Amino acid sequence: MGLLEGDVALVTGAAGGIGLATARRFLAEGAQVAIADIDSARLAGAVETLRGDVLGVLLDVTSRASWKAAVDATVARFGKLTILVNGAGISEPADIETLGDDAWQRHLAVNLHGVFYGMQEAAPAMKASGRACAIVNIASMLSLRPGAIFAAYCASKSGMVALSQSAALHFARAGIPIRVNTVHPGAIRTPMYERYIAMADDREAAEASFAATHPMGRIGEADEVAEAILFLASRQASFTTGAQIPVDGGGHLRD
Ligand code: NAI
Repeated sequence: MGLLEGDVALVTGAAGGIGLATARRFLAEGAQVAIADIDSARLAGAVETLRGDVLGVLLDVTSRASWKAAVDATVARFGKLTILVNGAGISEPADIETLGDDAWQRHLAVNLHGVFYGMQEAAPAMKASGRACAIVNIASMLSLRPGAIFAAYCASKSGMVALSQSAALHFARAGIPIRVNTVHPGAIRTPMYERYIAMADDREAAEASFAATHPMGRIGEADEVAEAILFLASRQASFTTGAQIPVDGGGHLRD
């Protein structure tokens, strides 16, 4: 029997990268999965690559109305919602001196407000499911160890972690069976990572410099992050809430 037999998951940012790897892993463990993204063309392509009970849902995480529609569509198709993975995210480089207002607002809208709306809109459906539920929010190594050229990204992800822990405390103390945890990937080979590499003049040097920020000396893979998300989403993590799990080859440690 799969680890997620009887579960229904909504995974955002799932048109590619870590979200898509997570959806694939969840399906292999017996979950029914709604994959959601703002990019309709890539979303349709992603649905085609998956085997199992899958629904593609167009979602802009910055819109509460869009969230309501996504949760409704998931419950309408599968009858309930028991797992939410907030994977949608954006990252654009800028330090505190060069960061523009628009980029600042964009990061907060997607990486912080998007998770706020998502948790708030998913909670009533989760409570109605009558099952133990889990929310896993994808933060970053950069919320454990900030980087100078990621000012808005670090701020948005750290805010999202604090919000996640506040929600974890609330649900636990209120006796509501929704656990909330965060995973903190280092540099992971996904479209987001590829966009950073593409900005560099020397691809090989850029790859080596990203790899060097991790004591294990390499870039991570989306499947490795999906394993940590699976653990936190499953009954195997039944006594774990408010935790921050790095998946970064030791990158959050300084020596
Ligand atoms: P990605 O760029 O491949 O995937 C992010 C997805 O989010 C995209 O498919 C994009 O269309 C979607 N998205 C963006 N704005 C959206 C919106 N308003 N509404 C709905 N969907 C939206 O990136 P990746 O690497 O798979 O990232 C997944 C998560 O992991 C993100 O939250 C990212 O910040 C985080 N992360 C990634 C790292 C990496 O090195 N790849 C490192 C640390 C964290």
